[in-house]
Amino acid sequence: MHPSALQELVTVAHDVLAHHAADSVRLEPQVMRIAGQAYTDPTRFEQEREHIFRNLPLMLAMSCELGEPGAYKTMEVAGTPLLLVRGRDGVARVFLNTCTHRGAVLAQGCGKAARFTCPYHAWTFGAEGQLIGVAQPQIFGEIDKPAFGLKAFPTLETAGMIWAVLNADSTLDIRAFLHGCETKGLPAMSEQIGKDARAYAKGYLAFIHMARPEIAAKIAAANPWLAAASKA
Ligand code: FES
Repeated sequence: MHPSALQELVTVAHDVLAHHAADSVRLEPQVMRIAGQAYTDPTRFEQEREHIFRNLPLMLAMSCELGEPGAYKTMEVAGTPLLLVRGRDGVARVFLNTCTHRGAVLAQGCGKAARFTCPYHAWTFGAEGQLIGVAQPQIFGEIDKPAFGLKAFPTLETAGMIWAVLNADSTLDIRAFLHGCETKGLPAMSEQIGKDARAYAKGYLAFIHMARPEIAAKIAAANPWLAAASKA
């Protein structure tokens, strides 16, 4: 990312935090008008997917969603099927959710698994992404297993959140990009939100519950404050 773009993001983030502290909102000097095409133009949509959603860090899960080794969840983001899984070493990883043989979708939904077996020809991958088994190896010939591990995306787990860049070749330093917002900015905003913690907690859990009720239950179980505030 260009340094000036990062600086602009940091400036905007500080401005947002200052407005939270002052209980105010940021306003443009005059009424803004945005052409409707900005919401429907397929070329612009693809540019946004490419330049933003596939090349900048995305917060994909709360750490508690992958609470123990083997815990996993699948999702599709910016047209990319993802498998998030915590390895036996405790490290959370983000993989392309496709088999490295012929590209079949590997895992579905969420849960806990020590390994993932492809439904097509039964290649099996470990929770750390390595190819660990090939059924009927006589059919496939000599396989260089280390070369056929799942495709991994750059990932960082910090402040209870799992971030990734959906470009396996990206060299972006996710921690530097976040610029401390994940440990300083979010708690500061939470303090402000805390003025109305009940509304915040209810809205947050209700939103997740609509999309993934099983995940909302796990988040509530792992965050007693959130669960209590949502019922207050
Ligand atoms: S596509 Fe997965 S084993 Fe063949």
